Amino acid sequence: MPRSFLILFFFIGFSFGVAPKGPWDGFNLAPSSKVVRPIAVKKTQGTVTSSSKLLGNETNSFATIEGESWITLDFGGEVGGIVSLTLGPNSPNASLSLAFTESPLFIGPISDDSVVPTASNSYDGALALPSPLPTGTWTMPPERQRGGFRYLTISSTSQEAVIVGNISAMITFMPHWEDLRAYTGYFYAPGEDLLTKAWYSGAYTVQTDTIPVNAGRQPSSPPGTWLNNATIGFHSPILVDGAKRDRTVWPGDMNIAVPTEFVSTFDLMPARNGLEILFSEMEPGTGRLPYSGKRPAINAGYVSDAYHAHTLIGVHTYWLYSGDLDWVQTVWANYSQAVGYLAGRVDESGLLDVLGTNDWGRVGATGHNAPANALYNRVLNTATELANALNETSVAAIWAQNATIHKQHFNDLLWDDAAGLYRDNETTTLHPEDGNSFAILYNLTLNDTQAQRISEGLTGNWNELGPVTPELADTIAPFVAGFELQAHFVANEDDRALELIRRTWGYMLTTNLSVQSTLLEGFTTNGSLLYRSADGYNFDAAYTSHAHGWSTGATSALTFYVLGLTVTSPQGKTWQVAPHPGQLNAVEGGFTTGLGWFGVKWSVTSGNHTITLNLDIPEGTSGTVIIPGTNGRILSMDGTEINRSNGIMENIPGGKHVVVGIMQ
Ligand SMILES: *[C@@H]1O[C@H](CO)[C@@H](O)[C@H](O)[C@H]1NC(C)=O
Ligand SMILES: *[C@@H]1O[C@H](CO)[C@@H](O)[C@H](O)[C@H]1NC(C)=O
Ligand SMILES: *[C@@H]1O[C@H](CO)[C@@H](O)[C@H](O)[C@H]1NC(C)=O
Ligand SMILES: *[C@@H]1O[C@H](CO)[C@@H](O)[C@H](O)[C@H]1NC(C)=O
Ligand SMILES: *[C@@H]1O[C@H](CO)[C@@H](O)[C@H](O)[C@H]1NC(C)=O
Ligand SMILES: *[C@@H]1O[C@H](CO)[C@@H](O)[C@H](O)[C@H]1NC(C)=O
Ligand SMILES: *[C@@H]1O[C@H](CO)[C@@H](O)[C@H](O)[C@H]1NC(C)=O
Ligand SMILES: *[C@@H]1O[C@H](CO)[C@@H](O)[C@H](O)[C@H]1NC(C)=O
Ligand SMILES: *[C@@H]1O[C@H](CO)[C@@H](O)[C@H](O)[C@H]1NC(C)=O
Ligand SMILES: *[C@@H]1O[C@H](CO)[C@@H](O)[C@H](O)[C@H]1NC(C)=O
Ligand SMILES: *[C@@H]1O[C@H](CO)[C@@H](O)[C@H](O)[C@H]1NC(C)=O
Ligand SMILES: *[C@@H]1O[C@H](CO)[C@@H](O)[C@H](O)[C@H]1NC(C)=O
Repeated sequence: MPRSFLILFFFIGFSFGVAPKGPWDGFNLAPSSKVVRPIAVKKTQGTVTSSSKLLGNETNSFATIEGESWITLDFGGEVGGIVSLTLGPNSPNASLSLAFTESPLFIGPISDDSVVPTASNSYDGALALPSPLPTGTWTMPPERQRGGFRYLTISSTSQEAVIVGNISAMITFMPHWEDLRAYTGYFYAPGEDLLTKAWYSGAYTVQTDTIPVNAGRQPSSPPGTWLNNATIGFHSPILVDGAKRDRTVWPGDMNIAVPTEFVSTFDLMPARNGLEILFSEMEPGTGRLPYSGKRPAINAGYVSDAYHAHTLIGVHTYWLYSGDLDWVQTVWANYSQAVGYLAGRVDESGLLDVLGTNDWGRVGATGHNAPANALYNRVLNTATELANALNETSVAAIWAQNATIHKQHFNDLLWDDAAGLYRDNETTTLHPEDGNSFAILYNLTLNDTQAQRISEGLTGNWNELGPVTPELADTIAPFVAGFELQAHFVANEDDRALELIRRTWGYMLTTNLSVQSTLLEGFTTNGSLLYRSADGYNFDAAYTSHAHGWSTGATSALTFYVLGLTVTSPQGKTWQVAPHPGQLNAVEGGFTTGLGWFGVKWSVTSGNHTITLNLDIPEGTSGTVIIPGTNGRILSMDGTEINRSNGIMENIPGGKHVVVGIMQ
């Protein structure tokens, strides 16, 4: 069978594996129809009569917006796409315009910003309908679609009244899915609604970031307009950073968003299409990978060693989840050259000396920068695994050895034993959130005690909304917090990790500055939207995205750590169940891969520390169960007494099993 056939088969196969139904479906934020309608009037200015005719299923009746009046409609949560409306017979001098916003802070006749950040919050302007107004149904030109909004303001911009009704938006994200709610995975923590909500908000956020390849943002639209008709890759759909903006492929963001895709929709093709464009744009000769995917009129540049590393790590992630080694082979020559580029940046100190200093927005990513080096170490370990899968054993051996040597240098030069944290480089006293989180997550630490000290040290940055990152002034960065969250679980500080979800994700999901559905790109120490104000975003709070895939780290962390289910070889041919329950009593969930349904359900009897795990795993696989706690014990499997004193049971074949253990 030709490869393209296999892939088609492979991806179509995925959509059959829908997660079981249950109370968790009530948390699913994806709309049940691709045509969505406003559910409430948020605000009116001036005189609007029969405004309720603009809501819900009232498709055949009209409201009247008097001259120079406006009305703001609420879609109930984040949506994105192409608006249609029906106009009655109107005066030839009547005029109408549309404006969109995610945050209610920017409700009014002018949209929030998506093209260029301007301190006046007014770059994008409004979309004027043709003049004179047509009669009958009118639909926005597709290039003017709005990728992310919750509120739509309809303004009569002359002194004439306008008769209008039948407002709807055709959703353009997830163009390849008929039923947006047909998730292949689920997560449910009974009585812990915030955790379940965090999981589903992340899943929906990444759906809003999965867009047609020809609907990327044009970064050079003139003031007072916006255009989302840039072609940003070769194949559709494609995974981008955010729904409203940048609508561009960003590899760092994918390091969080792709695991979210895996556990919720198993929709990996958009990620592969993103990686494809990044490799195709490798700089000839040097092997440097671009900072972001193709951005018309803006040369993304070869300016970020950290994002270069994220792209390489992304190849391993995609392979681990999909098993698609054929695709890895198509980029292998460029991939190897790109690993070589990073190796060539290693100087006599044994650490990588950063050349491309751009990163997620943080400052100070120069010299022997800790996060860039931790990412490089992860590149070496994942490259080793990929090379072994391709039988490239000699280069695998060199990469593995280089990883070991580099890890030693990382500890020798960057570990600050007095602080119990890694420094950002050997000449600073700054202990970064990103570098320390990566160090635990990517196993740069030498022992568990060290990881626990770092985990504790990181809480020194916390306020009531989460970690105030030391590497960028006045910022809480949910992207980085997503890595920190995983690091606390790896350090077995489960309650600390759950507390981080409650603070940072709890804030994003409840603040009335945002959309209470999808997740914010970032915010300031006091929770305002002035994210990165002094760092490129020009004090334009209207520019901040409210649906950013990089902020969805809680989704995969809840599946991989709290539920405890991970794949340890492609598609879960081998797997592991190692719950991190903290104070929780019961959790269930699972995901689908090309091998079938992987389900786990566990509950804890706190009085005697018993944990009971129910597994439902595809036949033909095998895996390991690890009972939580340093002295966990396994008591029985499928009713047979076992008494495994190290709490670890290996080589469990696929199928349905009940494992009982004691957590200590
Ligand atoms: C329209 O929506 C209202 C309120 O949700 C409902 O009572 C009514 O039955 C709906 N009408 C139609 C025709 O679906
Ligand atoms: C309502 O709008 C839809 C397009 O969204 C259109 O197909 C339909 O004909 C309109 N209905 C009326 C009564 O105008
Ligand atoms: C439209 O506006 C023009 C200029 O203000 C005016 O001369 C004309 O009478 C108006 N037409 C209608 C139908 O109101
Ligand atoms: C959010 O809530 C606060 C406190 O209740 C209130 O002062 C503020 O006006 C609200 N903001 C928005 C945008 O609704
Ligand atoms: C995008 O839309 C604008 C405005 O309609 C048009 O001028 C431009 O040619 C379009 N670009 C592409 C790539 O289709
Ligand atoms: C590898 O990179 C070169 C540019 O250096 C590019 O022309 C080529 O298309 C890339 N190959 C793939 C498979 O992306
Ligand atoms: C070391 O890190 C600090 C903090 O990030 C940064 O300000 C400084 O420029 C870095 N020094 C070197 C030599 O890269
Ligand atoms: C690697 O070698 C094994 C054993 O010889 C073989 O089964 C497998 O097909 C090879 N894989 C690749 C990608 O060449
Ligand atoms: C291994 O590391 C050394 C020292 O940094 C470097 O010169 C060499 O190119 C690396 N090898 C590979 C295959 O990356
Ligand atoms: C972490 O690295 C150590 C060597 O420093 C190794 O023994 C251990 O297996 C690694 N842990 C994981 C989870 O890869
Ligand atoms: C763990 O690693 C730290 C940092 O290198 C070291 O100081 C400490 O002695 C180690 N602890 C143990 C128990 O090996
Ligand atoms: C733990 O307590 C539960 C509820 O009381 C009981 O059903 C279970 O048998 C106990 N398990 C052990 C190992 O004692």
